[in-house]
Amino acid sequence: MARINDHFRKLQASYLFSDIARKVTAFQEANPDRKIIRMGIGDVTEPLPPACREAMKKAIDEMGTRDGFRGYGPEQGYPFLREAIAKHEYQNHGFNVAADEIFVSDGSKCDSGNIQEIFSSEAKIAIPDPVYPVYVDTNVMAGRTGVSKDGRYEGLVYLEARPDNGYIPEVLTETVDLVYLCFPNNPTGAVATKEQLQAWVDYARKNEAIILYDAAYAAFIQDSSIPTSIYAIEGARECAIEFRSFSKNAGFTGTRCAFTVVPKELKASTKDGDKVAVHALWNRRHSTKFNGVSYPVQRAAEAVYSPEGQKQTNELIAYYMTNAAMIRKAVEALGFSCVGGDNAPYVWIQAEGSSWALFDRLLDELGIVCTPGAGFGTCGEGHIRLSAFNSRANVEEALERLKQLK
Ligand code: MLT
Repeated sequence: MARINDHFRKLQASYLFSDIARKVTAFQEANPDRKIIRMGIGDVTEPLPPACREAMKKAIDEMGTRDGFRGYGPEQGYPFLREAIAKHEYQNHGFNVAADEIFVSDGSKCDSGNIQEIFSSEAKIAIPDPVYPVYVDTNVMAGRTGVSKDGRYEGLVYLEARPDNGYIPEVLTETVDLVYLCFPNNPTGAVATKEQLQAWVDYARKNEAIILYDAAYAAFIQDSSIPTSIYAIEGARECAIEFRSFSKNAGFTGTRCAFTVVPKELKASTKDGDKVAVHALWNRRHSTKFNGVSYPVQRAAEAVYSPEGQKQTNELIAYYMTNAAMIRKAVEALGFSCVGGDNAPYVWIQAEGSSWALFDRLLDELGIVCTPGAGFGTCGEGHIRLSAFNSRANVEEALERLKQLK
């Protein structure tokens, strides 16, 4: 009989957001008249920017002509998009990233989940706690962990984000091979300063580790002293891969477009100690297992960088960040301590007791969906996350409802 990958059996029965969606559907079926306000998963609600829609429509019309039709595109992305990303996200800010170091993809969830494949199955991994569950689960699937005990997998090194360290994990003293970092952080919304990131880059260079830096929420940073990219940090090109996305800043969660930067300088070691370029490995993996993002979607992503696209995406970001500020203010006024919401679209709220119990109470009593902190890891217990991705009307109604929380 065919054997399964037994490592999958170490996973929680289902993915966090699928679990929540199932509970919410069951609640709605049992209470068809209740209006539920979803502040759980970070899914955008506002329409695609007009500049992106126009570019997509134009690209579809081009595809309907003999001259403009395109079949398979370059797996790494069309040069027009890679060049626009390199210029607008990096070079214009003084960060050294070239177009051919950018790999366009269908999402940061996929890229941050797939990247581990090019590293040794014996690699020692450090993972934040709380954490975006994809980093953990993909390493569990790959067999890099033992079983889970009390919410923690044997073999992983956990970087704790707690109230007493301002939700920014301290730099490790032990040596690991791969370090996952995410700033602005999902789920906490905390951001790291230049000095804090420099300390991680120094650690990685000293220990020949690689930082897997998820910056999917970079566009939400409001404080100009906070780095929007790991490549703002000296030495990062030698030790860091960065994941970015159009999902949240341009409303592409359903449209799907993201990118990963793998600098040419970045090296990792073979079993025999030879150093090889990670860029070539990721290129090999990407071109074997991925066939590119569709041409109309890449044109839509390129339009994010047009003057109108920049204006419209900035308006979208400002809209969600106004929601975030309203949520944080209202929750603090109710007496809770929070982090996030100022440079990130998530507000991380410290609350007494079980976070799943609070999830149930918010849903049952107020019809509000949050994300229970425990779903992101042990350190998430005693917290919930509220997402600012919603309409203003829904946020206002949710904040009114929250006042009734006893
Ligand atoms: C979240 O709610 O944490 C995000 O929506 C997850 C994601 O982007 O996949």
